[in-house]
Amino acid sequence: MTTIGTDIHEAVDVLRAGGLVGLPTETVYGLAADAASPDAVRRVFAAKGRPADHPLIVHVAGPSDLDRYGRDVPAVAHVLADRWWPGPLTLLVRRSDAVSDAVTGGRDTVALRSPAHPMAHAVIAAFGAGLVAPSANRFGKVSPTSAADVVAELGDAVDLVLDGGRCRVGIESTIVDLVAQPPRVLRAGHVTIDQLREDVPDLEVAPAAAPAIAPGMLAAHYAPDARIVLLPPDASDDEVVAAVARSLAEGRRVGLLAPQAVVGLDRRVVALDPAGPPEGYAQVLYARLREADARGVELLIVVPPPDEGLGAAVVDRLRRAAHRD
Ligand code: TXA
Ligand code: MG
Repeated sequence: MTTIGTDIHEAVDVLRAGGLVGLPTETVYGLAADAASPDAVRRVFAAKGRPADHPLIVHVAGPSDLDRYGRDVPAVAHVLADRWWPGPLTLLVRRSDAVSDAVTGGRDTVALRSPAHPMAHAVIAAFGAGLVAPSANRFGKVSPTSAADVVAELGDAVDLVLDGGRCRVGIESTIVDLVAQPPRVLRAGHVTIDQLREDVPDLEVAPAAAPAIAPGMLAAHYAPDARIVLLPPDASDDEVVAAVARSLAEGRRVGLLAPQAVVGLDRRVVALDPAGPPEGYAQVLYARLREADARGVELLIVVPPPDEGLGAAVVDRLRRAAHRD
């Protein structure tokens, strides 16, 4: 039986023994293990059902760890870490000998992040070394944003889940590749491209689906069971009502995730509230996708936030969630 608790020392004991801990971070819950133990890392891949060539982020205490786990670390990495760590930014640098092949899938680079959630920070500090922590969901599924979500995703495959409440950010960290010239964003997140360009003026953005660059960035990802239909961010009430009517005519159980209250909405529709501006939308997005599944929604009509700033990161997740191969 998986235990849910709040004891940092118990979590450290589990990690030292090669076990897996559901770890709250400010973005999403991670599935943490000792990065220095290839066996523990292999258990992470097995628990998630994740292909071994999808590398893991190493979670560290702070900027001084850049040179512990990275080598030839560029000055801009320290500038970004000093500004954003602890926080929702992951930096890709060349790896040092302290990082094993099991973590990076044999790549010469490593992704590093120092999470801001006090519990994650306390565990890493007490453990005294880096922890791998992919999002604690089954491969391709929706990332967990509460302790209960982690148990629902992974069950007994995780030894202990620390309960740190609901995640504040709600979507995964921004990833910046600092090995590429010029540097580029591999995954959009809470730290926006405009904010990063204040320190990295020549920053580029990798094409949305670039699996060869970031192997976890598949076109289909973050997928609920419900099929998602994405409307434009400025969809009118009439457009929403028409989309709903089309789906109901096919006899499906229909849900609607839209920031506005839609006038004239069919009463059979499961209405889900994405909570206002992009911050709120990002924070509740995954919880709403889970809720849609829990309420038996087969077709979820979604009005996204405008595709800019943090909204762009939300739109990115929704596009992948909507994608079916
Ligand atoms: O917010 C987050 O980053 C969360 C929390 C738990 O920290 N973690 C997370 O990890 O989202 P994960 O494994 O679900 O996503 C990590 C992404 C994957 O797309 C992976 O391919 C990419 O980072 N990545 C990791 N190491 C890499 C490397 N060396 N080169 C290229 N991509 C890498
Ligand atoms: Mg993930």
